[in-house]
Amino acid sequence: MGIVDANSAGYVHGGTVMKLCDEVAGLAAVRHSRCRVVTAGMDRMTFQEPIHIGELVTFTASVNAAWRTSMEVGVRVDAEQPRDGVVRHTNTAYLTMVALDEDGRPTAVPPLEAVSADEQRREREAQTRRRNRLAERDEIQRGRGTQPGSRPA
Ligand SMILES: CC(C)(COP(=O)(O)OP(=O)(O)OC[C@H]1O[C@@H](n2cnc3c(N)ncnc32)[C@H](O)[C@@H]1OP(=O)(O)O)[C@@H](O)C(=O)NCCC(=O)NCCS
Repeated sequence: MGIVDANSAGYVHGGTVMKLCDEVAGLAAVRHSRCRVVTAGMDRMTFQEPIHIGELVTFTASVNAAWRTSMEVGVRVDAEQPRDGVVRHTNTAYLTMVALDEDGRPTAVPPLEAVSADEQRREREAQTRRRNRLAERDEIQRGRGTQPGSRPA
């Protein structure tokens, strides 16, 4: 990360980190679906620790769950201070990506095969986040007097 990535406090700008999370999540979703994808939502973006200018930052993305046309992609961000090699886990993000066909309409994605214990845990947790997201949407829509389930949150 260089000085053009800095905010007024001298750390890496949160928006820069979010943009890069979005890019790697999109790439992971394209690799899984072999389609073009769009970002439908960002469920969570945590900033555990600031990233300093001069640190080497690695973004690791995995498709955690695949539904009909959408996928949850988790992104882990690690920052390394190259002079001492110390690596810190700085951010975690969860994004929903939707695969599109040639006409720009949502299209089915291949199912995800969660094999290892870690993959199964990630899928289980992604299902929890989706359930919570949909429940929250329905509750808000009920509060507004609109039809529950009519439109994704
Ligand atoms: C995302 C988008 C394609 C969904 O279109 P839509 O007409 O609502 O399509 P559907 O209702 O068929 O939903 C398609 C899928 O998206 C999911 N989805 C839609 N909006 C969502 C949201 N805000 N959060 C999470 N998932 C969402 C639905 O749950 C559904 O998933 P499923 O098929 O796996 O069950 C559309 O809203 C869109 O194009 N948004 C703009 C995307 C964009 O410009 N992103 C930034 C640049 S990449």
